[in-house]
Amino acid sequence: MGTSKDLLPHSFLKMRRSRSTTVHCSLFTINCSSRFLYEKMNYINIGNVKIKQTAALAPMAGIADTAFRTVMKRFGAAYCVGEMASCKGLCYSDRKTAELLTLTDIERPAAIQLFGCEPEFAAKSVEIAERYRPDIIDLNAGCPVPKVAGNGAGSALMKDPILFGEMVSAIVSAAHVPVTVKIRAGWDAEHINAREIAHIAEECGAAAVAVHARTKTQMYSGNADWDIISAVKQAVSIPVIGNGDVDSVEKCEAMYRETGCDLVMIARGAYGDPWLFRDIDDYYEGRPIQPPPTLAERLSVMREHIELLTKCKGESVGMREARAQAAFYLKGMPNAAKYRGMCGRLSKLDDLYELIGVVERANRADTAFVPVGDR
Ligand SMILES: Cc1cc2nc3c(=O)[nH]c(=O)nc-3n(C[C@H](O)[C@H](O)[C@H](O)COP(=O)(O)O)c2cc1C
Repeated sequence: MGTSKDLLPHSFLKMRRSRSTTVHCSLFTINCSSRFLYEKMNYINIGNVKIKQTAALAPMAGIADTAFRTVMKRFGAAYCVGEMASCKGLCYSDRKTAELLTLTDIERPAAIQLFGCEPEFAAKSVEIAERYRPDIIDLNAGCPVPKVAGNGAGSALMKDPILFGEMVSAIVSAAHVPVTVKIRAGWDAEHINAREIAHIAEECGAAAVAVHARTKTQMYSGNADWDIISAVKQAVSIPVIGNGDVDSVEKCEAMYRETGCDLVMIARGAYGDPWLFRDIDDYYEGRPIQPPPTLAERLSVMREHIELLTKCKGESVGMREARAQAAFYLKGMPNAAKYRGMCGRLSKLDDLYELIGVVERANRADTAFVPVGDR
């Protein structure tokens, strides 16, 4: 089943229970009836890869690149998945596609995610992807964007279970590391088939399945239906990774409790908020949840993140991509509209330092603000 839940000795349980009946943090108080607080920190195994049972960073093309993943991992993300790379693009030696595969050691355990719909290309691309030493290879069967799903890949694979099975089998046969699959609830409300697809994945040798609990036609709107994650969990015996709408410690705990999933995965909740992973890690380690970051801490991590981005991609490309990242870190601050304008004009590192100076002069460094809409 991939999980081990060794209970701690009774005396330790009593101590932990009395010490932490409630966990206080800035915005809410969690009633710690959670099984997790009374148990030793758990790990799950995906194949031979051991992953802490806290929260993983989901793949996000154009957002969760090496710099983003490095920052999130440093703050406690248990596992991360790289941006999707095209099987065909890799086979045709597309330099840009290959750049997506680079993983640094701090990111580990980490997966490379592939998308495609031709089993022969998929198998060949695994050979190329493995040169980058991923711990896991993940097949994208959930992407809804026309460029991917419109060509038969991503979520379109869920409409063609036979091809889906062939894709999983081809990747599993070619791979020397565990293979996982990321799926959605189904194509649309009339075609919810996550259980069947997860079952096929398991039969074809997948070591885990991640479920984004929305249909393809929902894209990213509406609420994720966590009942789908529970249904998948009951249908397969490989680990199930739950995904959709987790942006707080409270919701992370709720997803574990309500779905029985083996690992929670977070995408948009991580925008400008590596502290979310710190708080989740603290919570499951039984440590008190820390206050939200001060403005000084927030600006310092933003600076570190964007400097790393420019190191990875060069100043010109890095600063263009930094515009979105900086806006995430500053979202919800007083004068956010003005700062957003400055974020949109970032093109050199000096522009970033100027932005930081402007924000610092207008606000007290020890202010601990929580961005509106986050948490
Ligand atoms: C900007 C963006 C890019 C994404 N790129 C990918 C991707 O490359 N591969 C993938 O499987 N899912 C991708 N997703 C989907 C997320 O991994 C995740 O399933 C979805 O956002 C729901 O999780 P959330 O509610 O925590 O955001 C992307 C989502 C966003 C917002």
